[in-house]
Amino acid sequence: MLKSLFVYGLLGVLLIPAKCNPIVVCIEDDDDLRVDCLIKSKPNKINTYEFSWSSGTKEILINTNVSGSSADSQFKSTVEELQPHGYRMTLSHFKEKIPLNTTYMCKVTGEIARIKMEKAQLAPCSAVSLFLKSSCSWIICLLLTLHQTHS
Ligand SMILES: *[C@@H]1O[C@H](CO)[C@@H](O)[C@H](O)[C@H]1NC(C)=O
Ligand SMILES: *[C@@H]1O[C@H](CO)[C@@H](O)[C@H](O)[C@H]1NC(C)=O
Repeated sequence: MLKSLFVYGLLGVLLIPAKCNPIVVCIEDDDDLRVDCLIKSKPNKINTYEFSWSSGTKEILINTNVSGSSADSQFKSTVEELQPHGYRMTLSHFKEKIPLNTTYMCKVTGEIARIKMEKAQLAPCSAVSLFLKSSCSWIICLLLTLHQTHS
């Protein structure tokens, strides 16, 4: 039991941040830029979100509902809540305007996730969600297998 807990913990630490990064950036069919931020919000707290990116040395706020801060007015983005948790930010018809090397960041209630992407690496959302599903469920499979061999 202890041993399997250890394995769970170790795999969790090693694999989940790498394979299941809570921030996912992709391009939708109609050239919208989509950023999914899958950080769990905290129960019993006022939850806030913040989407930003940095390109070169400049960090630009795209959308937030942190009171007191306001997004750069050049961005007309929308944010919706995802089930079971997380937020999705969409910038309409933005494909042409994406900076070449960009670090995308999102923050939910103080917790931050970031991913660096070159413009050429951005994949269509349909492909990304398939990939994500398969790599995350692959980890779950592995965990279950290990669990069974150890118990
Ligand atoms: C930000 O948006 C979330 C989800 O819509 C909401 O639950 C939260 O109360 C908002 N926070 C503020 C400070 O308005
Ligand atoms: C983007 O980053 C890569 C490596 O991180 C670098 O090779 C490339 O020159 C950069 N491109 C631009 C336009 O800054």
